[in-house]
Amino acid sequence: MERRDAIKTLAAASLAITAANAYDEKLIVNTNDYEFKDPQNPTDYELKHTPAISIKDADKAGFSLVEVTVGQKGIIHPSVDNHWIYQIELFADDKRVGIVDLEPSVSRGYLAARVQLKDVKKLRAIARCNLHGNFSYTVSV
Ligand SMILES: [Fe+2]
Repeated sequence: MERRDAIKTLAAASLAITAANAYDEKLIVNTNDYEFKDPQNPTDYELKHTPAISIKDADKAGFSLVEVTVGQKGIIHPSVDNHWIYQIELFADDKRVGIVDLEPSVSRGYLAARVQLKDVKKLRAIARCNLHGNFSYTVSV
């Protein structure tokens, strides 16, 4: 086998592995955006889907650790075969600075990134549930 053919074969094999591990996109049945109907009194259902953002210490280069979990007030969103948070995005002002794709039953909603917050005014996270749609949350920096 020529070296170039071997590289092509390896590339094809790695793509096949990636595809085999990815969730079935047919399971994503709701991509609508939702907000709290009553922001003063969010329901447990709304809290379960809403990202929580925590800002932790900066490293020596000035990048703060930003963690996003899904679910507020101790209400944690599940990750089971047919119901899970399949993606989380993190925005610093309007620029996307992090994204994570998650697998049902295997990984549960979490994103962490080191972010330079020097000129950032707000952080926003979006959590995407395959059944219940997209919920976002914003914090001032
Ligand atoms: Fe859900």
